[in-house]
Amino acid sequence: MFHKNRMEAHYSRTAAKKKFAPTAGGRERDYPNDEDDPDILVPAIPENTPHIPYRPLQRSDEEVLQRSREYYELMAKRRTVRSFSTEPIPQEVLNNIVRTAGTSPSGAHTEPWTFIVVQDQETKTAIRSIVEEEEDLNYTKRMSRQWVTDLKPFATTATKPYLSDAPALILVFRQTHSWREDGRKRMHYYSEISVAIAAGILLAAIQYCGLVALTSTPLNCNSRLRDLLSRPVNERLELLLPVGRPHSDATVPDITRKPLEEIMIKV
Ligand SMILES: Cc1cc2nc3c(=O)[nH]c(=O)nc-3n(C[C@H](O)[C@H](O)[C@H](O)COP(=O)(O)O)c2cc1C
Repeated sequence: MFHKNRMEAHYSRTAAKKKFAPTAGGRERDYPNDEDDPDILVPAIPENTPHIPYRPLQRSDEEVLQRSREYYELMAKRRTVRSFSTEPIPQEVLNNIVRTAGTSPSGAHTEPWTFIVVQDQETKTAIRSIVEEEEDLNYTKRMSRQWVTDLKPFATTATKPYLSDAPALILVFRQTHSWREDGRKRMHYYSEISVAIAAGILLAAIQYCGLVALTSTPLNCNSRLRDLLSRPVNERLELLLPVGRPHSDATVPDITRKPLEEIMIKV
């Protein structure tokens, strides 16, 4: 799919170099270039991987329609909750929701994700302290005044009690690349969108089983949280999700969603 033969590889590399040169900020590319290409090309998973028949469940049109309605209704009830009950969640539930996220599609089946599930109180407290310290700087110095203003309806502040209250924190790390068994670098194509899809599936699984989450992206916390959790440098923190049950006093902003006509264009 990516490099069928050397000629194609050459032309796609030349185009990739022009289109996807690294930015001044050193942002990694989704595509390889010459330096990444070894002399002998061997797929990262065996070329002779067998193809087996795909046998989906057969459902009638009525059943498909009914399920589409039910799933929409379930997902429309999902809300970001910022106040959690401390009630623990069974380990098997956490295993199953992460397992579900791991069924996500990914570029060339690279599965570029690591889900760190923190239930240990001391570690949650350490995470909270790092995030609050950084968020204090974010709110006062790093974020634009417009950004801080746009957050006002959500009543978010640098204080994050949910990070120590929620029974579990799931930290979603994106692997920018990995290593093959022969020690060579394994490219992770489209790792950003792959992890975003997996995170969406994770949120859907959390909603389906009746729990809630807070989708958060702690600004400037990547290296400190990565070190705290002893993660390697090829992993970047993308999301921090407190997961659990809502606090009995939890409230959510009364927002509306764009109607179908605004988000879907039929061609
Ligand atoms: C990528 C992303 C980052 C977010 N970051 C934060 C965050 O750092 N803190 C927070 O309280 N909410 C955060 N949110 C939650 C949004 O504010 C929330 O999804 C939005 O207001 C819509 O509300 P709903 O999730 O209840 O539908 C984030 C959501 C997304 C998708």
